[in-house]
Amino acid sequence: MNFEEISVTPSSPHVGAEIDNIDLTRPLSDRQLKELRAAFLKYGVIFFREQDIGFEHQMALAERFGHVHIHVGGEGTASKPAPGYPAIRLQHFDKDSKRISGEVWHSDQSCAEIPPAGSILQQKIIPPDGGGDTLFASCYAAYDALSPQMQAFLEPLSAEHDGAKLFDRGTKTVYPKAVHPVITRHPETGRKVLFVNAGFTTRIVDLPKDESEAILNYLYAHIAKPHWQMRFRWRPNSIAFWDNRCTQHFAIWDYWPNVRSGYRVQFEGAVRPDR
Ligand code: SIN
Repeated sequence: MNFEEISVTPSSPHVGAEIDNIDLTRPLSDRQLKELRAAFLKYGVIFFREQDIGFEHQMALAERFGHVHIHVGGEGTASKPAPGYPAIRLQHFDKDSKRISGEVWHSDQSCAEIPPAGSILQQKIIPPDGGGDTLFASCYAAYDALSPQMQAFLEPLSAEHDGAKLFDRGTKTVYPKAVHPVITRHPETGRKVLFVNAGFTTRIVDLPKDESEAILNYLYAHIAKPHWQMRFRWRPNSIAFWDNRCTQHFAIWDYWPNVRSGYRVQFEGAVRPDR
């Protein structure tokens, strides 16, 4: 698609693009929405700068892309629901934090039967000395780089994703579990995706435990290679808007005891991850 309304600058060869020439405090025109959706699908994560949007704007933006998704993490998560906005998660971390959200390679809530399709995260407060960057990886590029033999081996396999792996902190919450193909096909682009992640995936259900562990550890190390990654440096009022079906991310907690504070909303996928 030709981008006529928005400006799009790729951030790296495989993932990410920065979007300019748009004001997210104003309702999106149909053309702007079409171009944003095209950029989101093409680059996997799109970034915005200097967008001072509040909860209402963030909800309105998410609702143009899908139904808002209520987080499935229960009490064990490091984020909290925003007062009056159950679909918005406050991600505020400071000197008293014992952990933060997302400090492991993961796609959001892959333990759900239908994980969120997209997440929109805005930061309001950034550590004064830098830090708190987020890494993003393209799971298309990670899949494409596997040998045809490895791709064929993984193709028929499925893996369990368990919310307890990331969220359980000894509370009584029962976390969702789901089984998804190891290789999925993105429902909109049709491209193949390596769909296991260190945050939620517990085992490949078709293999004995030791083989499953060895293969998963290899795949986690593969996804974490820098070749299909980019690193996003936040500023106050930056937004990262990622396609959860074909990317993973990792939030770096290198800023303690400083504050990093923002909020995130997600919108639902239309279909279960499938081959
Ligand atoms: C998350 O996993 O949603 C958190 C990402 C971040 O804080 O950079």
